[in-house]
Amino acid sequence: MSIGQTKPLLRALGGEALTPPPWWLMRQAGRYLPEYRAIRAKARDFIELCLTPALAAELTLQPVRRYHMDAAILFSDIPLVPHALGQALTYREGEGPVLDPIEDFAGIARLKLGQIKSRLEPVFEAVQRVAAALGPETTLIGFAGSPWTIATYMVEGGASKDFRRVKSWAYRDADGFGALIDLLVEGTVDFLAAQMTAGAEVVQLFDSWAGILPEPAFERWVIEPTKHIVAALKRRFPDHPIIGFPRGAGLLYERYITETGVNGVGLDTMVPAGYARSRLQQFATVQGNLDPVLLIAGGAALESAVKELCRTLSGGPFVFNLGHGVLPETPPANVEALASLLAGLNAVK
Ligand code: CP3
Repeated sequence: MSIGQTKPLLRALGGEALTPPPWWLMRQAGRYLPEYRAIRAKARDFIELCLTPALAAELTLQPVRRYHMDAAILFSDIPLVPHALGQALTYREGEGPVLDPIEDFAGIARLKLGQIKSRLEPVFEAVQRVAAALGPETTLIGFAGSPWTIATYMVEGGASKDFRRVKSWAYRDADGFGALIDLLVEGTVDFLAAQMTAGAEVVQLFDSWAGILPEPAFERWVIEPTKHIVAALKRRFPDHPIIGFPRGAGLLYERYITETGVNGVGLDTMVPAGYARSRLQQFATVQGNLDPVLLIAGGAALESAVKELCRTLSGGPFVFNLGHGVLPETPPANVEALASLLAGLNAVK
């Protein structure tokens, strides 16, 4: 990151150790906020929310207005990429995305890579609107799902317990499945590059299902595609930091960081902070990883966990976040308490 950068999140992603650490929360916009529920109740469906620039921009800004996080993350969702490729997408209450499953080459052949930019134009307009509305200290984060995680939804047709369809395709016919991953790599680069052009200063790749693969498959379907995406984006936007979130990667976090070239890495809830300090923080800015349930519990449990996490990781480049997204049951007052706790860390420096 260029010298003279003043936004705390960009400084941390550039390698600086800051106290208090910059912070934002995955899923910081969402059902735990009454102002989100008010807008959600008025929209016909969730996809319409994501593809209406004024609404997506408003939802992006809601949590930042309340809590003054160091970053706004674009309000959108990862299955919009398969939607733009032409795969039918719906949302079922309490279940998340449901897609018409793709199982073979014919399914891949029907996807229209050329449509990504045109069909997701409202997303880029939302990015422009947010960029224009944010204060000078706040960073705008764009995002996409990683090819592997997007492919799990595309092949399983939605959420899955054991991922047997997508895994068995990948094991049985690596070349055929690889064609889907290659297409998603290209689409993801286009999608993220367009977000950066529109004003996203950082992008995060959500690889929510990275942790279900054994090492050789992790290398082929998580590390390799991520490496290509990072390299392609860095050629066009060398100064834009990229955060990777290979949820559940466990002992493979280290390979993920050193081999993909990400600037920052999102740690899931299970990564021990001491391990992150001794083995990961030397390679990238670490981001995470408070248990989202502590944000429901609140009180002394929240306070001691936040302080301990910051004590362990604040000696190096660190961005405070959760280990997964904010849960809908989270009391908004606990997020307020978290904001105060983090702000108060200055005193104990
Ligand atoms: O972080 C943010 O606030 C930005 C917006 C964002 C959403 N989804 C909004 C959303 C982001 C970054 C995502 C990422 C996402 N979406 C991931 C990766 C991160 C993760 O959680 O592992 C995944 C796997 C999805 C797919 C998805 N979308 C699921 C599984 C669900 C259902 C779960 C749920 O909470 O309902 C969604 C729906 C969704 N995405 C909602 C929101 C605010 C809830 C929709 C509603 O209001 O009903």
